[in-house]
Amino acid sequence: MEGDILRRGRIRGVKPPEVDRYTSSIEADKWIFEADLMVDKAHVVMLVEQGIIPLEDGLAIIEKLDEIGRMGYEEVTRSSFEDIHVAIETRLIEALGEDVGGRMHTARSRNDEVATCIRFALRRQLIGLLGELLELMKVLHSRSLEHLDAIMPGYTHTQHAQPVTLAHHLNAHLDSFERDFERILDAYKRVNLSPLGAGALATTGFPINRFRTAELLGFDGLVENSMDAVSARDFILETLSCLAILATHLSRIAEELVLWSSLEFGYAELPDEYSSTSSIMPQKKNPDTMELTRAKACRVYGNLAAALSMLKALPLTYNRDLQEVTPRLWDSVETVRSMLRIVSGALKNVEFKTEAMRIRVSEGFSTATELADLLVRRRGLAFRTAHMIVGALVSEALSRGLKPEQVDGKLLDEVSVRVYGKPMNLADEEVREALTPSKCVEVRKVVGGPSPETVREALEHRRKLIERLEKKLKSLEEKEYAVERRLAEAVEKLRKQLRA
Ligand code: ARG
Repeated sequence: MEGDILRRGRIRGVKPPEVDRYTSSIEADKWIFEADLMVDKAHVVMLVEQGIIPLEDGLAIIEKLDEIGRMGYEEVTRSSFEDIHVAIETRLIEALGEDVGGRMHTARSRNDEVATCIRFALRRQLIGLLGELLELMKVLHSRSLEHLDAIMPGYTHTQHAQPVTLAHHLNAHLDSFERDFERILDAYKRVNLSPLGAGALATTGFPINRFRTAELLGFDGLVENSMDAVSARDFILETLSCLAILATHLSRIAEELVLWSSLEFGYAELPDEYSSTSSIMPQKKNPDTMELTRAKACRVYGNLAAALSMLKALPLTYNRDLQEVTPRLWDSVETVRSMLRIVSGALKNVEFKTEAMRIRVSEGFSTATELADLLVRRRGLAFRTAHMIVGALVSEALSRGLKPEQVDGKLLDEVSVRVYGKPMNLADEEVREALTPSKCVEVRKVVGGPSPETVREALEHRRKLIERLEKKLKSLEEKEYAVERRLAEAVEKLRKQLRA
């Protein structure tokens, strides 16, 4: 078609290429191409059902929209367009003539249209993302189950703190991802509402049926107030926030894998497929995928900060600024989805060096709390007093170059007489046992604790939880298939009407 369908009235003239590129959203609109075709069809079905446009015109439009869908985004957007809405409408008018194709945009604005498209496309992205998140949770679950007895140092301040197991450690990460899953499910509820029918900002005088388009498109309800409907982007902020938190969790686990891959830790070796090497140092095996995961989290934060800033001073209702918000959303969605797949893939085949963990845990006096607890239990000391005696004992052992397994009842008595005035009179056996990491872990059976049987139970609960989340996700996926079906049925009904 000759010229821009919007620039034949109030304003004229062709935009210079730079202005054209500056104002166009066509590149980011590839994310809403499919969604826009669905939204167009649902709108046209409703217009026909309400008697707002003729049945034959509506059906001709829907048929062409299907053809435009088959042309694909690249072909449809070959020449320059302000956005995908204009591109599709232009193709339609090219094919059907203005008297038919030009009826599609009756009782609608690009303002309600774009908000509907973003919500529709985002909903499907979230479902895909939840599937990838669930996969990561399953990987963590199965890697935990393999390592119920793998004793390792637990850290606070990156210093040996108390012994735990690798299973307990991985399960901790699993729980944070479970909360991410719930958070995104919750955000989904506010994403999946229909602004369509709000028009530019004040609805329309045509007798449209907003509930019908919402139903046809699989929305759970309306964004009712028309001014709110076209200007609200808090569903984007909420999604970006959820993604920023999820990215934080992915980055933390990535950071640990970087640390653990170092010679100093030696707790993990990433699969070669997830590592890179150096162009000069032939020996290098670098955990690049995990380093990039750390950095990509920052990009996701940047998108949230950018979107917040763009929205904070916007007066109601639609402002073109909103066009700059949407790409921040797609960038975060795409980035976090790839982070999820990469971290899952790396964790699936990372080799955990449990022997190195076992050796390390016996070196750092991470069992000292258990010895203090023993003094409380066997000698009735206040914990604070026991804390002082054992602290002095560790200090003495370190200055003599003794390892935890070389500490005995005699050394304990020597120190306790010096700092407390009395010996503890404990058998060497008892002292040694308290200082044995596996024993420390075994007695920590409190719910949420690291003992193998406690963690096994916790993992059983997580297994059931993952099953529940999987069912929930399945039901959301099925709801999506139903959208295509329902729309096709509505169109079929109109076709029958035409034949009759
Ligand atoms: N491309 C626009 C966007 O992404 C669509 C809405 C345009 N509306 C307008 N009044 N110019 O926001």
